[in-house]
Amino acid sequence: MILLGLNIDHCATLRQARYRASGRAGGAVEPDPVTLALLAEQAGADGITVHLREDRRHIQERDVWRLRESIATRLNLEMTCTPASTRFALKLKPDSVCLVPENRAEITTEGGLDVAAHRRRVQACVAAMNAAGIATSLFIDPDPAQIQLSAELGAPWIELHTGAYANAYFSPRRARQFARLRDGAARAHGLGLVVNAGHGINYVNIAELRTLPHLHELNIGHSIISRALFTGIGEAVREMKTRMSA
Ligand code: PXP
Repeated sequence: MILLGLNIDHCATLRQARYRASGRAGGAVEPDPVTLALLAEQAGADGITVHLREDRRHIQERDVWRLRESIATRLNLEMTCTPASTRFALKLKPDSVCLVPENRAEITTEGGLDVAAHRRRVQACVAAMNAAGIATSLFIDPDPAQIQLSAELGAPWIELHTGAYANAYFSPRRARQFARLRDGAARAHGLGLVVNAGHGINYVNIAELRTLPHLHELNIGHSIISRALFTGIGEAVREMKTRMSA
């Protein structure tokens, strides 16, 4: 069974659109991402993912601490591999961290982490997390060199970036992008890495993506949060879980 990690950043984006300046203005500060996470768990989400961005544009530190105290599944913290993020993760003790690149101008994470370019920092962060019993996942493009290096640096997990595939879904480039993911998953598994995937996964492309070999967990945000506006989060999670196992 493939696990579902629900990324709840967009719930916080909506809250911040109104309450960024006022913080706790009194009365309802809505929507609350922690309440959403608890409802999603009840509907079958296997874990909750948040990205505590350096610019704090959506998820705030307080959200992360509240999640740590309240959720019953697993907390996956997406972060950059800076010393400050590493210190924060070691205090928080999430179940896993996912190292992502962070470009302040981007709307959401655009590309995979260049493990080769940030080798020393990634290695230091992976070592610190391994010592603390926190699994590290590296969010990388399905590139053979990045996969190989991820294994060499001692990361137990990778998350294959499915964005290029999602963008190519309705074009002739889709087959090539799918083949890259399939080969990447096989290579990573062969190196002993746990294979996750995420970015741009939706209720349509899941039909093909779920056939990737060796998949452990999919991290999905935008599509499920969007559907939840119409159906509620419980139905949105249940429907994705159904399609993941169909
Ligand atoms: N995985 C990672 C590492 C991400 O940064 C994100 C959000 O950009 C996701 C998965 C979820 O992507 P989406 O919101 O497109 O489902």
